[in-house]
Amino acid sequence: MLRRFEDGEADLPEFYQVIEESLEHLRPWMPWVAEHGPETTREFVAGRAERWESGQEYTYAVTLDGAIVGVCGLFRREDTPEDGREIGYWLHPSATGRGLMTRTVRAVVEEAFRLPGVAYVEVVHDTANHASGAVPERLGFAVHRTRVGEPLAPAETGEDRIWRLTR
Ligand SMILES: CC(C)(COP(=O)(O)OP(=O)(O)OC[C@H]1O[C@@H](n2cnc3c(N)ncnc32)[C@H](O)[C@@H]1OP(=O)(O)O)[C@@H](O)C(=O)NCCC(=O)NCCS
Repeated sequence: MLRRFEDGEADLPEFYQVIEESLEHLRPWMPWVAEHGPETTREFVAGRAERWESGQEYTYAVTLDGAIVGVCGLFRREDTPEDGREIGYWLHPSATGRGLMTRTVRAVVEEAFRLPGVAYVEVVHDTANHASGAVPERLGFAVHRTRVGEPLAPAETGEDRIWRLTR
């Protein structure tokens, strides 16, 4: 299931615990893990409602049997054209391997294309992050381009693959 984060701090203790349990699984690929702590998690949760209301980012808690097991966000970067959106995601390690994120991203893509003026959705991942790239591949995204930059997390090569699905 997908749901919004609760307004306020209702989700904070559970969400913090999920991140804590996922740290070593996320650290290779997610730059924010290096800064992770109670305060960064509090800020993340506290900022969701405002970003949702403004249309800046729709952040979904991914749940299994009512428990939070990951996150999937639909957002637009400052330098992304108006008609583009990006999807980012992660799962608790115990929730991987069963197609949950592929189903989640399929649903979030449908939501994206319900927004007025959204023409395409992208997934961006380091070329070494095969599990991440397999998600858009399963969903029929096409490789749009490759971008060479700096590695931001320990396992990254710095080369990003950008997958795109057009409405
Ligand atoms: C990226 C990430 C969410 C992908 O998780 P995942 O479990 O591989 O993806 P899914 O939930 O879609 O599950 C796919 C797996 O379930 C299997 N599966 C089982 N039933 C399935 C179904 N009905 N549909 C699709 N896949 C299914 C697939 O074969 C695949 O397993 P495999 O890799 O062993 O072949 C996860 O690896 C992760 O959290 N990584 C760390 C954070 C990260 O890198 N985030 C992305 C940054 S760009």
